[in-house]
Amino acid sequence: MGQLVNLDGVIAPTASVSVLDRSFLYGDSIYEVVRTFGGKPFGLQEHLDRLRQSAAYLYLDIPWDDAHIQTEIERTLQQAGNSESYIRIVVTRGAQEEIGLMPSPDLQPHLVIIVRPISPERILPQQGIRLRVVPRQRVAQLALNPAAKTGNYLNNILALLEARQNGADDALMLNSQGELTEATTSNLWLISQGVVRTPAVEAGILHGITRYFLLKLLRQLGIPHEEISLRAEAIWSAEEAFLSSSVRLLMPVAQIDDYSLPKCPGPMTRTLWQGLLDLMQEQTQYA
Ligand SMILES: Cc1ncc(COP(=O)(O)O)c(C=O)c1O
Repeated sequence: MGQLVNLDGVIAPTASVSVLDRSFLYGDSIYEVVRTFGGKPFGLQEHLDRLRQSAAYLYLDIPWDDAHIQTEIERTLQQAGNSESYIRIVVTRGAQEEIGLMPSPDLQPHLVIIVRPISPERILPQQGIRLRVVPRQRVAQLALNPAAKTGNYLNNILALLEARQNGADDALMLNSQGELTEATTSNLWLISQGVVRTPAVEAGILHGITRYFLLKLLRQLGIPHEEISLRAEAIWSAEEAFLSSSVRLLMPVAQIDDYSLPKCPGPMTRTLWQGLLDLMQEQTQYA
């Protein structure tokens, strides 16, 4: 039980890629983070689809089909033997002899799968996190689209450092139009007067897989919701808020800047938490 790394099919407690790999030199890679539920990867197909979209955005050909990647994930999970696992799938563009920005045509991408034990998220955290709307903008869509999950996370790292320097747990970033985008590794949700709102993809965000399943759930449950352009002012009328991600699922938000959310975790967050767990159970049962 513990961490295992699968590098191009070889499974070991750890592994190394060359310092000439473009992931090391330039962050020239893509990745996905998936978690298991009942030991089975949740939303794996959706994650693999997004991995391919990120690859296409980077003009990178993934030389393996989904079945191969799935088999390698299964083998690594089986050998690790954790009850629940964090799974990180990384594809690097590969190593080249010449150091230079232009990828050489004969590059061999590497497939890395990191499996680690993770605690089973069956109880909604009762203590909310504190967010800060930081001056650092989310990178522009036309510069490096946040919808592509690349190995270049400096924009998010700097925002996180700046939020922490100001006593918050995580950052909320605005785009150049002053619209709310997302936190550094999760999507944002605000609830007021029974309506659940989340920034639209047009704001420039990662199209979160948890966000996708939550939207599906909201439709199924008939809960009023909007994917919409939100400005920071929308925060001040929210009754509850939470973040969503594959690793932490839903995280209630206690405070944004100096504003304390009146309910944390609020009733809508609780309903969606239970709905998401039920959906995960349902989806992984027959996987
Ligand atoms: C910037 C960013 N936004 C949102 C998310 C949430 O996405 P998902 O639900 O697919 O984990 C992540 C997850 O890593 C992220 O890095």
